[in-house]
Amino acid sequence: RRYVIGVDLGGTNIVVGAMPEDGSREIGVRSQPTRAEQGSDAVVDRICEMIEAVITDARAEEGMPREAFLGVGVGAPGPLDRERGIVVVAPNLGWRDLPLRDLIGERVGLAATLDNDANCATLGEWWTGAAKGGRNVVGITIGTGIGGGLILDGRLYHGSSDVAGEIGHTTIDSNGRRCKCGNYGCLEAYTSGPNIALRAREALESGERSILPELVGGELARITAATVYEASERGDALAREVVRDTARFLGAGIANLLNVFNPDVVVIAGGVTQAGDALFEPLRAEVRRRAFKPAVEACRIVPGTLPGTAGVVGAVATFLQQRDR
Ligand code: BGC
Ligand code: NA
Ligand code: ZN
Repeated sequence: RRYVIGVDLGGTNIVVGAMPEDGSREIGVRSQPTRAEQGSDAVVDRICEMIEAVITDARAEEGMPREAFLGVGVGAPGPLDRERGIVVVAPNLGWRDLPLRDLIGERVGLAATLDNDANCATLGEWWTGAAKGGRNVVGITIGTGIGGGLILDGRLYHGSSDVAGEIGHTTIDSNGRRCKCGNYGCLEAYTSGPNIALRAREALESGERSILPELVGGELARITAATVYEASERGDALAREVVRDTARFLGAGIANLLNVFNPDVVVIAGGVTQAGDALFEPLRAEVRRRAFKPAVEACRIVPGTLPGTAGVVGAVATFLQQRDR
């Protein structure tokens, strides 16, 4: 039996785990904060230590030799250059032109591949999660950034220079908020975790009443998207409006994708899935309002079912696909 290690490098957390080639199990999954502000060397060190720990755990569990590990699939925020294994620009990490694939592969002495984190999460949900069986799949990840992945006719679609699927940086308001990528009015500038929290703080500053301050002991800087979902669940009017607006922005973005790609599944992964129907109901309604009816009828919009590990599972899958090319 052979195994592959998956690395999901996010703006906030790094998740690493191993899987057997058949995708039947996740082994030794662990997570650590990314702390991108410490610089890329420190982050690469941490990733390699986590890989070694996963190998040790997996070997203790399954008793395989180190040779049983075929390699490491790495998912990282992009845009990136898969051929050369380089992260070209990662606005949420503050990195440019980092040869991440080889930095990791050479250090741990294993073959390595690199793909976009959201492409990986989409592939993961397709392989073992909520998008299983889909033919044309749009995946969206909501976290520190907004990521996207496209599976078209049963294959991950990368585009002409690996940029395909960057839905977070599509414009939804031409005069809108400035985004970390330099553009204005990107979907990410409204609906990423930190920007959901920011919109809630702005509403609070304009004097609206809410239980949010109480939930964070008065420290507004501690409000996260999760706090907003929690307040919304408890019926807080301000938080509900922030969640409804989030659903409207995402719904508009997804309606565009329905009209362009006509997918049979849209899978939304990341912490947002904890917002449940409070987000998904108005989001589906917005999509129905904006997209062509046959596109709406052909498509189910569902939360991911691999909370926390879609990226790792998909990184393993991208490694296996690139190897089989
Ligand atoms: C990046 C994407 C990435 C997403 C999630 C976005 O800001 O442009 O490449 O997939 O964040 O990390
Ligand atoms: Na992507
Ligand atoms: Zn942007």
